[in-house]
Amino acid sequence: MAQAALEEALEAFLFKHKGTYFQTEITSPEAVDALEHMEIRDDDVFIVTYPKSGTIWTQQILNLIYYEEYRNGKLNTDNTTRSPWIEYNYGNTSFDSHPSPRLFTSHLPYYLMPKDLRLRRGKIIYVYRNPKDTLVSFYHFYKVISRLQYTIDWETFFDLFVTGRVFPGSWFDHVREWYTHKEDYNILFITYEEMIKDLKSSVLKICKFVDIKLDDEVLEKVVEKSTFKTMESDPIASYKNVSKDILNFDKGSFLRKGTIGDWKNKMTVAQSEQIDEMVKSKLGDLPIKFVWDINDEVHY
Ligand code: A3P
Repeated sequence: MAQAALEEALEAFLFKHKGTYFQTEITSPEAVDALEHMEIRDDDVFIVTYPKSGTIWTQQILNLIYYEEYRNGKLNTDNTTRSPWIEYNYGNTSFDSHPSPRLFTSHLPYYLMPKDLRLRRGKIIYVYRNPKDTLVSFYHFYKVISRLQYTIDWETFFDLFVTGRVFPGSWFDHVREWYTHKEDYNILFITYEEMIKDLKSSVLKICKFVDIKLDDEVLEKVVEKSTFKTMESDPIASYKNVSKDILNFDKGSFLRKGTIGDWKNKMTVAQSEQIDEMVKSKLGDLPIKFVWDINDEVHY
């Protein structure tokens, strides 16, 4: 009975297109396919992530770097308006009319991204996070999504995550595919964990990648306005202004704990070992190291 209700809720919430899951109603296969031919400009910057890896944090950092008015509190539009998700283009607006430099966000796998990016036009900042914290964060976030008419328990969500039946699909494939195709793109890989450990160096790394030099005072401001504490109290940075029909913040928030290692409070030993095994079998041949605890050393 519960299984049938879950299936029904998932069926209504997600659709699969070309191997990737999308949320229904807010996008369509046609909208996703149209992205293939999106015209890319050299100064475009795309934030690409698997959900819960630090997406809105990176949006905040980039918006602060790019927009002086935002830094000074004079722009009240949401970060998602200035750095929209390309696959969830609610207003169906053409990105062609957006003035340069344009910022975008996406959870897409590499093979559904605009083709021109492969010519090393535009820049991609790929943020990734250890899969255990990503999974726990995603579990909590699913409760906030209003259109998902079913409260998924922890064990069930764990299974959905490891089988890749969440949007956009398998975390393991997402990280692997982006990493193994990195030569095709102008891309910076940065981890959530290094942002946690040294936010200022991470902001500098991003600035260097996008070729923007900030003076010290501005740099300090960008760092201060992108700390967990500041973002949490700012409705624009924390998305608290989003309509309740989309996200119900009575059930959680985007900025939840913001740390490394919270998975230890949720995962059983067996679940943790299962993820370790999957990391080994699916990513073990790649030179990617994950940071699992706040006290671990971070690899830059
Ligand atoms: P937790 O749920 O573990 O707290 P995304 O934006 O990709 O959905 O990722 C959300 C995760 O990033 C949440 O993780 C959130 O707390 C964390 N996050 C967002 N801004 C942050 C910040 N300034 N510092 C630390 N973590 C942040």
